Amino acid sequence: MEKNIFDNYEALSVFAAEFIAKEIHQKREFVLGLPTGSTPIGMYHALCELHQLGKLDFSNVKVFNLDEYIGIDRSHPQSYYSFMTEHLYSRVNLKPENIHIPSAEAGDLAVECALYDKKIAWAGGIDLMVLGVGANGHIGFNEPADKLMSPTHVVELTRRTIEDNARFFEDVSCVPVKALTMGVGSILKAKKILMLISGKAKQQVARELLSGYITTKNPATLLMLHPDVTVMMDKDAACED
Ligand code: GLP
Repeated sequence: MEKNIFDNYEALSVFAAEFIAKEIHQKREFVLGLPTGSTPIGMYHALCELHQLGKLDFSNVKVFNLDEYIGIDRSHPQSYYSFMTEHLYSRVNLKPENIHIPSAEAGDLAVECALYDKKIAWAGGIDLMVLGVGANGHIGFNEPADKLMSPTHVVELTRRTIEDNARFFEDVSCVPVKALTMGVGSILKAKKILMLISGKAKQQVARELLSGYITTKNPATLLMLHPDVTVMMDKDAACED
């Protein structure tokens, strides 16, 4: 696991975007796994800037998002589809048919989950999976638990995550309590992983991620099993002044 610490959030975001652009440039067709949350917003901004400057072409990039809420429509301003449309899809030249995000509007969610993993496999697997992390260590929406599901699945969100994500909704009672998420297995199948960690609230998670101990109580620690993970964090997350 490679660890990079940046002075601040802006530097983290720019370096993350440059890392992704470099990877995209190495392959004619590229499959990119993407996260939501506050942490990657700066990185999306930097990616869009590279695109506007003519330095990054998305025409041969397929994107697969990690997760989506269940219980709100795609058109809801807080759906992850809306988030991605605002921060990336509408701002770069991704082809509509290359945009993938699990659909909570599917009639049969179990079928949707199985199909999502198949679509990733049909695309050739994820070349680079970009991840954020929840303050409780969740990746995608794989919440701390005794057992974790490997494939894409339906998950119940923990109270902690519901409260953490309430800042985006009118109040905590409006936050969906379930989601669709790539499983830990779907994530670990990616050829390369880039994890972004920002802010003091993530210090403990960051410490555990680099501790050498793996536990399903902090799903991010499972990344230690992967041979090619880069962790980029700002000084706040790294406990450095
Ligand atoms: C959500 C997403 C995660 C993301 C997490 C952290 O719960 N499902 O994929 O990593 O938020 O978000 P933030 O970066 O806002 O702390």
